[in-house]
Amino acid sequence: MRLAAVSALAIVSVFGVAAIAQDSGAEADTAAPVDELHQLANELFEPIPSMVPAVEGNAVTREKVELGRMLWFDPRLSASGVLSCNSCHNLAMGGDDNLETSIGHGWQRGPRNSPTVFNAVFNVAQFWDGRAEDLRTQATGPIQAAVEMAATPELVLSVLNSMPEYQERFALAFPGEDEPLTFDNVARAIEAFEATLITPASRFDQYLEGNLNILSDEEKEGLQLFIDTGCAGCHAGVNLGGQDYFPFGVVERPGSEILPPNDKGRFAVTQTASDEYVFRAVPLRNVELTAPYFHSGKVWDLEQAVAIMGVSQLGADLSEEEVQAISAFLRTLTGEQPSVELPILPVSTPETPQPSPQVKNSLEPEDAVQDQTSVR
Ligand code: HEC
Ligand code: HEC
Repeated sequence: MRLAAVSALAIVSVFGVAAIAQDSGAEADTAAPVDELHQLANELFEPIPSMVPAVEGNAVTREKVELGRMLWFDPRLSASGVLSCNSCHNLAMGGDDNLETSIGHGWQRGPRNSPTVFNAVFNVAQFWDGRAEDLRTQATGPIQAAVEMAATPELVLSVLNSMPEYQERFALAFPGEDEPLTFDNVARAIEAFEATLITPASRFDQYLEGNLNILSDEEKEGLQLFIDTGCAGCHAGVNLGGQDYFPFGVVERPGSEILPPNDKGRFAVTQTASDEYVFRAVPLRNVELTAPYFHSGKVWDLEQAVAIMGVSQLGADLSEEEVQAISAFLRTLTGEQPSVELPILPVSTPETPQPSPQVKNSLEPEDAVQDQTSVR
């Protein structure tokens, strides 16, 4: 299956079938001459919707979103009382932490770069190696991961149960349930909040919707190159990525300074040899805000990341002008950032477990990968 996906790369429009072509009505109305690039782009990509999308099996209600927002910012869900989801996915700076790899419990350095949570709801595959199938499964991971928040479901439930306001809010968010305050509902509330973290109306989306003059000539040339050289074979759909996995190094494996040998990606999930160094094609929405790049976070410069992709994934030695143009195009993917009100959290009570911010420095990087991937 993996091999099939990779060899289909030659046919750039392989994802065009999946991507719903949304030819804008405006174009038809004015009977403008058909613009081939615009048409092709609409076959391969989709704009971010302006409305919050539905989440399978989890109605996105106002009560749930508000509760999820509180949980998102509450550091008491971590053993140390220091870390919240927002520590590593800072909603004020692109939904990630802009660190090489994340720093979690006890100042431990995690093995991978933090991906943005913006538009994550549209990703088919979560995580660099896709080990969580959706945001709900995902949300319980970091709370428990020893290298991240290092808590347990029991700790989280006793923290939340110790504050009457949380009890009330869970009852409101999950009406009719006998026991609304459960670990699963913590994940559901966070998932509902995450579904609101979308970034519509990027310049590229306005282009897709028919505003052909909003992109400069260089940006259009970059888009054309992005399609023609084969980038769109892996980075397509609504998020320009986030749909499937590919070896990092289809043509040429990058050096160990960019692809550290100890992180074998999807291999850790499937134990299949062909999945060694296989990672998710990164969603490229808001990419100018989410440096450093790659799962190792080793590359800070977007132009350099683009040039590396050309060589490693396509065997294409892109010229400086081509790299510039593609990067200019990628910068048109920055959408309207969600404006999120900082919640006022309920005050702790005498029953609230006290934080234990002990500092440990002893984990080896290999153990850290192990710790993080063993929590699903
Ligand atoms: C210590 C830093 C840290 C904390 C705290 C943290 N995360 Fe993450 N998060 C990461 C890293 C690193 C990854 C990537 C891990 C991987 O792919 O192996 C990640 C991945 C994710 C993803 C997947 C995004 C994608 O595109 O695949 C989501 C969603 C997410 N985290 C949500 C959360 C939520 C919700 C919380 C709070 C309950 C949280 N994170 C807490 C560091 C953190
Ligand atoms: C064969 C599939 C494939 C092709 C073709 C491909 N990519 Fe990628 N891309 C990936 C994968 C997989 C990653 C994640 C690598 C990693 O960090 O493990 C990635 C990562 C990236 C990143 C880093 C984003 C981030 O936030 O870390 C950028 C930028 C990028 N690709 C742009 C491009 C461009 C531009 C092209 C065309 C020149 C291209 N890609 C071609 C699969 C592909």
